[in-house]
Amino acid sequence: MSDRYCVIGHPVAHSKSPAIHADFARATGQDVVYERCLAPLDGFSDTVAGLVAAGYKGANVTVPFKLEAEQLADELSPRARAAGAVNTLSFVNGRIVGENTDGAGLVGDIVRNAGFAIAGKRVLLLGAGGAARGAILPLLAEQPASLTIANRTLATAEALAARFAGPAAVSACRFDQLDGRFDLVVNATSASLSADMPPIPAHIFADGTLALDMMYGSQPSPFMAFAQGCGAATRDGLGMLVEQAAEAFAIWRGVRPATTALLARLRSSL
Ligand code: ATR
Repeated sequence: MSDRYCVIGHPVAHSKSPAIHADFARATGQDVVYERCLAPLDGFSDTVAGLVAAGYKGANVTVPFKLEAEQLADELSPRARAAGAVNTLSFVNGRIVGENTDGAGLVGDIVRNAGFAIAGKRVLLLGAGGAARGAILPLLAEQPASLTIANRTLATAEALAARFAGPAAVSACRFDQLDGRFDLVVNATSASLSADMPPIPAHIFADGTLALDMMYGSQPSPFMAFAQGCGAATRDGLGMLVEQAAEAFAIWRGVRPATTALLARLRSSL
């Protein structure tokens, strides 16, 4: 019988993960089935228990359960602990192992797909919520010259910067305190969800800046349109979506699927 996986969310009907994982399975010859699983808002842990009992091997976790998944896991990877959130569960010998592949997906998309080396660069992360937090450890692992976290609520950005203080220069500010230009600007705020953008100054962008929005859609987000108008190259979150899925697939199956052709197909279907 095929090994079974699913994505747990609420809502989950829109999720592209089943199509992505079916493509990975075909391409790598892995015998897996990947489904959608709608969990009740108050029933995440029961849903996971049901999947374990039914013999599933793992699950991806999406909105709004990533924080609950971190609480539920018996073991956490360093990336999941740093992110405070889990998007990938493996069910191994009755234990629930939690991983977070979102940040690695972001960095993989930037470095491999966009061909943009983060090492030595000035990096600006917009937002200090769950999405931003998951990106910090993988970004720092690339050894940027500096990482600035800018947020509407300064205290949240400061708390995050303090958590990750280490060899790299991590600092926090409000949007109106942003100073100088950045090589890489990542929008991890949820502003694009409401067709809005953080109030960032134009001077943070220069020719050669890469501006990436974690959201994706058929049209550029307001953030991407603004960045493009300021001379930046832009990228949405579709590549990150595919790369985080590839990371999860590699954790589960021990094989890393190719992503280039799939990303192009998903792009043309938006
Ligand atoms: P997620 O899990 O998507 O990161 P979250 O944890 O609720 O969601 O965090 C949302 C982030 O987007 C926060 O950094 C939030 O700023 P505050 O900390 O000040 O709330 C930011 N955000 C949301 N809407 C925004 C907007 N219109 N402009 C700027 N920042 C916004």
